[in-house]
Amino acid sequence: MRPLRDLISIEDLDPSQVLAVLDTAEQLLPIADRRRNSVPTLRGKVVCNLFLEDSTRTRISFDLAAKRLSAEVINFSAKGSSVSKGESFKDTALTLDAMGVDCVVVRSGSSGAPLQLSRYLEVPILNAGDGWHQHPTQALLDVFTMRRHLGELAGRHVVVVGDVLHSRVARSEVQALKLLGARVTLVSPPTLLPPSVASWGVEVAGELDAVLPDADVVYLLRVQRERMHRAFFPTSREYARVWGVDERRLALLPEHAIVMHPGPMNRGVEITADVADSDRAVIVEQVTNGIAVRMACLYLLLSGDADATEGSA
Ligand code: CP
Repeated sequence: MRPLRDLISIEDLDPSQVLAVLDTAEQLLPIADRRRNSVPTLRGKVVCNLFLEDSTRTRISFDLAAKRLSAEVINFSAKGSSVSKGESFKDTALTLDAMGVDCVVVRSGSSGAPLQLSRYLEVPILNAGDGWHQHPTQALLDVFTMRRHLGELAGRHVVVVGDVLHSRVARSEVQALKLLGARVTLVSPPTLLPPSVASWGVEVAGELDAVLPDADVVYLLRVQRERMHRAFFPTSREYARVWGVDERRLALLPEHAIVMHPGPMNRGVEITADVADSDRAVIVEQVTNGIAVRMACLYLLLSGDADATEGSA
């Protein structure tokens, strides 16, 4: 396998690298689950979590992932730092470098910020979500979760529904699924489908009901109101009626099919509360798996040749 230097976009990966992350995460899952114990794999390494945009799941799981591997963690957000006084991205990066961090995990509202950071710093950069561009660790934890439920993903059918236009998750998700040989269908309001979708190598369907009986996974995207500066659909009620998954649509899925969402959810819009809380939804499991997958990413970027689980009891 070609070694990973940074993790900025799923586009930069080949299938063997995706599989290396998934297989390593599988090994690390028992350790990710532990409440107190850690392994010494990354002892002496310093991981900086640079979060310039809000996050719950990604920020906390990167924090836990680094600690489970015994790395030191610096949590850095725009609020409470000199970024709020107007310090530039470059000067912030050089300041982190001067303090000797070994890896930077970065979330930013600006597409391209992690790539820019990788040009300022020699240490590995991990993209924790940038603008509309990419959210590679979300896609990796999603395909990890799918593989745990469905086995190998080659030939499986994943229906991705909703706000594709504003979704960095959708972009990373489609690329990861295609690397693993899955078939992807997008269902979206026409106004929330990017013009570039013609080159994504996916199918596009107009009606959700028509594709659900043939789906192995239905993956619901969050309606990203914070990125919408005009009306893309008439009302939330209309959205829920045409593109949301409720009990009636859940019944259209094959019995083995699972329901996924990256979170945070808009209950009552893209998913009803009873579907979100049903045993067909694996949304909470996605969050738990996120720790193991982020441990795997940190391990592959930082460890050299050490065994991922070395020192585990
Ligand atoms: N899915 C996801 O990225 O969630 P957070 O914004 O809470 O990190």
